[in-house]
Amino acid sequence: MKGIIFDLDGVIISTDKLHYKAWKKIADKLNIAFDEKINNRLRGVSRMDSLEIILEGYQGPALNKEEKEALADEKNACYVELLGTLHPDQMNPDVTDTLRYLREKGLKLAIGSSSKNTKYILHQLEIENLFDAVSDGTNITKSKPDPEVFIKAASFLELPEEECIVVEDAVAGIDAARSGHMRSVGIGDAYFYNQADYHIKTFSELKNLF
Ligand code: BG6
Ligand code: MG
Repeated sequence: MKGIIFDLDGVIISTDKLHYKAWKKIADKLNIAFDEKINNRLRGVSRMDSLEIILEGYQGPALNKEEKEALADEKNACYVELLGTLHPDQMNPDVTDTLRYLREKGLKLAIGSSSKNTKYILHQLEIENLFDAVSDGTNITKSKPDPEVFIKAASFLELPEEECIVVEDAVAGIDAARSGHMRSVGIGDAYFYNQADYHIKTFSELKNLF
């Protein structure tokens, strides 16, 4: 293995609560029941696909494409405002230590995230310099479980896919790695997913794998 591709949300930083708060605002406005359980289904899923999951509970008049896009934009505006509160102190120090350790070992590191806010999040956390490449929601046409985001990350690292391993917390992300012929490490939710090749409970366990 020469490269490691990290999912962002739920692997490098927990943004679950911020996504939840922003989607809750939209759900309340449309009188849709929305709880943490539904929020968990949004893990790794693109913004528009997340909206469709939330709209499963919608009982009002049908919404057209423009109305749906307006709702997604409104959610994102709220989410971006919340991201403004992100600060390097909120990073788990084990994550930054481990990333530095892996770089020192000579491994190339990339982000492979569906989020279009990836670069802003990395900037807020002041960790842009820890990654050699970023593949995110702004350079893909298909969301996870499609492997596009990881295939692009490998190409940005100038490495063949077989020499890259993916670290993911979402089932959709592990499936994406598999269909891109990459091995994967499951953490968080994906710790319990048997399709991952390796399973870790804490981020620093990556040190033992490399
Ligand atoms: C993923 C998150 O990383 O990014 C999803 O797990 C989110 O919950 C998706 O919907 C898209 O994020 P954004 O920031 O582009 O709305
Ligand atoms: Mg994730």
